[in-house]
Amino acid sequence: MFLQANEKNQSPKENESETITLPDPDFDGEYSIEQTLLKRRSVRSYSDEPLSLAEISQLLWAAQGITNRQGFRTAPSAGALYPLEVYIVAGNVNDLPDGIYHYVPRGHKLEKVVEGDKRVELWAASLRQDCVGEGAAVIVFSAVYKRTTWKYGKRGNQYVHIEVGHAAENVFLQAVALDLGAVIIGAFYDDKVQKVINMRKEEIPLLIIPIGKM
Ligand SMILES: Cc1cc2nc3c(=O)[nH]c(=O)nc-3n(C[C@H](O)[C@H](O)[C@H](O)COP(=O)(O)O)c2cc1C
Repeated sequence: MFLQANEKNQSPKENESETITLPDPDFDGEYSIEQTLLKRRSVRSYSDEPLSLAEISQLLWAAQGITNRQGFRTAPSAGALYPLEVYIVAGNVNDLPDGIYHYVPRGHKLEKVVEGDKRVELWAASLRQDCVGEGAAVIVFSAVYKRTTWKYGKRGNQYVHIEVGHAAENVFLQAVALDLGAVIIGAFYDDKVQKVINMRKEEIPLLIIPIGKM
């Protein structure tokens, strides 16, 4: 396992007293990649059953987990500059108090951002799409564009958008492989999502993925 340092991307929000170390991810799923691709379908309604912390761990590892000693991750990144940030809005997860958490790839851990179930606020910010309020947990991707554009200029904007697609598909396929329902949500008000998640000004929200048991 390679879950260690990538110092240059350490979030300024990191606060050791508010972190939760996630269980180690599992590298032997039940389904082949081909079966997973065949089964992938957008799912917009979910049961009331909670997700487990192990499932959250697996989904976040798929999104941006570190997979080698240099700090490279599950999803490709132009110049290995890693512009993406990942949040989990938890409302029905065993062993994880309701709240918003920021995923820290280094150490595979969560840092608490906001306490309490914020799914209704996120639903309102997402054009009241019911799936956003009903997922047991909701993953939110944002990006800090300048991490990529300082090197690649204007083209870096395209790279960031390509990268969030890679990371989101990783999450989607991981959800399918865990028999969970998920959908990609691109329709939302950027400023409202920024406010709900308590993002830094330089972070732009890009995609939302509600996830739940079917
Ligand atoms: C960039 C992007 C944005 C999307 N935004 C939404 C959305 O806001 N709401 C929604 O219900 N589905 C959204 N979708 C999901 C598509 O509607 C869905 O992928 C499409 O209907 C094909 O169905 P499938 O995913 O089951 O193959 C989005 C998909 C993508 C790739």
